[in-house]
Amino acid sequence: CGIVGYIGDQNTQEVLIDGLKKLEYRGYDSAGIAVFTDSGLQIAKAKGRLANLEAKLDGAPLLGHAGIGHTRWATHGKPSDENSHPHMDESQKFSVVHNGIIENYLELKEELISEGHTFISETDTEIISHLIAREYKGDIVKAVQKAITFMRGAFALGVLTEHEPNKLVAVRQASPLVIGVGEGENFIGSDIPAILKYTRNVFILNDGEMAVLTSDAVELMTIEGQFISREMIHVEWDAVTAEKGGYEHFMLKEIHEQPKAYRDTMLGRIDKETKKVVLPELKLTEEQIKNIRNIQIVACGTAYNAGLIGRTVIESLARIPVENDVASEYRYRSPIVTPDTLVIVVSQSGETADTLAALREAQANGAHVLAITNVVGSSIARDADDVLVTLAGPEIAVASTKAYSSQLIAFYLFGLYLAQVRGTQTDEQVAHVLAAMESLPEQVEEMLGKADAIKTYAEQIASHKHLFFIGRGQDYAVVQEGSLKLKEISYIHSEAYAAGELKHGTLALIEDGIPVIALVTQESVLEKTVSNIKEVKARGGDVLAITYEEHAVELLKSVDQVFAIPKTLPILSAAISVVALQLLAYYASLALGHDVDKPRNLAKSVTVE
Ligand code: G6P
Repeated sequence: CGIVGYIGDQNTQEVLIDGLKKLEYRGYDSAGIAVFTDSGLQIAKAKGRLANLEAKLDGAPLLGHAGIGHTRWATHGKPSDENSHPHMDESQKFSVVHNGIIENYLELKEELISEGHTFISETDTEIISHLIAREYKGDIVKAVQKAITFMRGAFALGVLTEHEPNKLVAVRQASPLVIGVGEGENFIGSDIPAILKYTRNVFILNDGEMAVLTSDAVELMTIEGQFISREMIHVEWDAVTAEKGGYEHFMLKEIHEQPKAYRDTMLGRIDKETKKVVLPELKLTEEQIKNIRNIQIVACGTAYNAGLIGRTVIESLARIPVENDVASEYRYRSPIVTPDTLVIVVSQSGETADTLAALREAQANGAHVLAITNVVGSSIARDADDVLVTLAGPEIAVASTKAYSSQLIAFYLFGLYLAQVRGTQTDEQVAHVLAAMESLPEQVEEMLGKADAIKTYAEQIASHKHLFFIGRGQDYAVVQEGSLKLKEISYIHSEAYAAGELKHGTLALIEDGIPVIALVTQESVLEKTVSNIKEVKARGGDVLAITYEEHAVELLKSVDQVFAIPKTLPILSAAISVVALQLLAYYASLALGHDVDKPRNLAKSVTVE
């Protein structure tokens, strides 16, 4: 989601819409604004693209001197007019826009309902306006501060109240927010591009901080109310760079957003006290889970590759047999489905026609279908019996990165959940995996810090026409994604092989100097992989091994170069190692001068079969 806010003498509606246009990449299933007009706080919102809201406003503009706006990417509640922001309380005097997730919103909602509040939307945001209204004793800043003491989760807020029309309150708690400073006017925005047209002077809020804006002043303070002083930043970026958050391409930005995507996808799904996975959104009963006899994971492209990891995770944690299918093949092979078959469809967009058709086929055969998707309200999310949403946020680059890796997180959570219910892992084992999962975001950050070494290697391979990836076990699934990524955006031909299978065929293609990238994280088969590497070396292959630090010295005896990645549990390693392969593809494409974000012939979402 994205939020904007404005206080000053310009046409407020226009400033808000301009900002939302820049934020539309953060979500586009609905948009809305609230403006102080002569007749009080007025709201306009519309489902769908921003253009729908603009069309609505054309007939009935909202004129005033302050306002807030929002473009939504649904997380709680389907995309609809009611669920669009801004939200108000019952008195219609308090209006809120929100980006993020309130983890304990159901608890708070129940509490507010028992106190007599009524709600019109399914969102977690609506409770915020009610909480602020409840806490309001004549000072909006204090009311906001009090309200957020009850809220857990990640959020950025923009708040207006009719009681104090000259103030705009903004809060940042683990969701981004910047304050733009103008002359006789001030702004808030989820990111700099949203306000760049109007000012280049900004304050960046940190977590746990808030700002109180009037048209001619900005006060910064902690959410506990302690005033802070901060240096103003003057932004030099051009508008295009700014939209990419300062990154050269959306793909690079999205690669860097993975730690956040992991945290968001885990948020609220790991019970801190019991150290177990909680997935209250699932309709699948414990009884049904205990009865599952087989699982079929069906998807296309990168999502299919995520399913390959899903298989290794589910089979090892829950001991349920899993098959992987390419969606366009699934329904034509008369799949064997019983009422005890669980079909998992995986789709970033939730709109892929092949995957949707497979979903329908599975349902027609009586299977329960669980969708793992990044888009709430998408066709696949609507049609599936159950949905597990990944919270990667909108992905713009055609080649998927953060959506894929968030699908892995969803598989880890779901695999552990199956294991809990079926008793295939002890409580200690589950807690052990969860603890390791919680370190993944930091480990990916560490990995991203080493991007330069990958860039150097990418430049070396960029002149080659063919190359190979090898790996065993989960590493084999990861290199299939690494190979696809490289082909998609650098157009270098590559093949991913199970390391032990190479000698049964493709070894014939290994010639002097052919780059071979060996992913070696699965320690139980490390020695076997080393043997396969030696087979390649003996034919002149130029081998890069990607492995853990502790194996680097040993592996260097057999390979040409080693790249070390942070260590985690064998079933979690994909969530770290794939980042190295994404960077490799990115820098190879960059070195060859290709259009990284929009590779030739490919589309982000394919809605034909
Ligand atoms: C298209 C894209 C691929 C993507 C696949 C599945 O072919 O080009 O990058 O992996 O669709 O997309 P989905 O939205 O279903 O994950």
